[in-house]
Amino acid sequence: MTLLKNDLLLRALRNEKVERPPVWMMRQAGRYLPDYIKLREKYDFFTRVQTPALATEITLQPVDQIGVDAAIIFSDILVIPQAMGLTVLLEENKGPVLPKTIISKADVDALITEGVEESLSYVMQALSLTKSALNGRVPLIGFAGAPWTIFCYMIEGKGSKTWEKAKQFAYTQTALTHELLQKITTITIAYLKAQVKAGADTLQVFDSWSGALSPADFKVLAQPYLLQIADALKEDAPVILFPKGSWYALKDLSNSSASGLGIDWCVSPEMARELTGNKITLQGNFDPAKLLAPIPEIKKSVIEMINSFGAQKYIANLGHGITPNIPVDHARAFVDAVKEYSI
Ligand code: CP3
Repeated sequence: MTLLKNDLLLRALRNEKVERPPVWMMRQAGRYLPDYIKLREKYDFFTRVQTPALATEITLQPVDQIGVDAAIIFSDILVIPQAMGLTVLLEENKGPVLPKTIISKADVDALITEGVEESLSYVMQALSLTKSALNGRVPLIGFAGAPWTIFCYMIEGKGSKTWEKAKQFAYTQTALTHELLQKITTITIAYLKAQVKAGADTLQVFDSWSGALSPADFKVLAQPYLLQIADALKEDAPVILFPKGSWYALKDLSNSSASGLGIDWCVSPEMARELTGNKITLQGNFDPAKLLAPIPEIKKSVIEMINSFGAQKYIANLGHGITPNIPVDHARAFVDAVKEYSI
């Protein structure tokens, strides 16, 4: 096993002392990088995801070109519905589409929850290949979507602002909803364990749409499944939970088996620390759109962000994924500002 030369991220997740906070950016692979855009012209999205050599090349781009302290494997959260037997298409510039959604009990019964190591073997191959190519430069992050977020896509069949169909399903077919959420949870746990075996040093669970839920509904539809995943993985690797928009859940989640919590920009660092009692490592929470500000402004805001969170038990990141319109030198300025931070 190669020893990590830069293990800032893992130390921050273990609550160990660091010289400066580690930095990476959600959705750092792809989207805004010119070399990625070139590959996008040659291969369609799922070809890029399913070809380990291409996924590895894309994963390494932000490490080589932006200087982040971690690599996140190039893949997508929607490979899980695919592994469960559903078709997922990606219409360029339109987003994901599932032509056949989950409607009935028979649809849920037909879903596959086993064999994910084989059905998603290309992800595991991409992780091992990336791990060797990194040669211990930085840790490698594996990931999955949270059960509620995956449920949303399976019911709705595409992105939504309100997730009304998913909510209607949850509010009218309670037992079936929990059956489906449990099936997603079971396969996700097996998938994340396989990712660790293949070389992931840490894992992030993206609950991108948990903020669509009220605090009471989050407790029923999202939280139990997030906790189940964190518990199941606690001996395998540190887990970061990212319940976007669900600031109200931070207190409960800080008392879980997770090692880190992702914070979006609608919560102040002070409030996030207060809600979590400074017990757990926090990650975030720069507004991705603020990367459009002039570079000196970005650098100033990054320093203020670190000062507000505190430099320990902290991972500098955005509050959600970087968007395609961010100039590369602005992304680099964000990362540089963290690296230049001195305690
Ligand atoms: O972080 C990384 O750089 C690793 C790669 C990654 C992708 N998707 C690649 C991708 C990760 C971590 C994801 C997670 C993901 N996928 C989430 C959770 C994170 C979040 O942003 O909330 C969600 C909700 C999805 C579902 C999804 N996949 C959507 C809504 C879209 C279309 C819109 C878009 O551009 O994100 C995708 C496609 C997708 N996944 C792209 C990339 C680079 C864009 C397609 C392309 O480049 O051709």
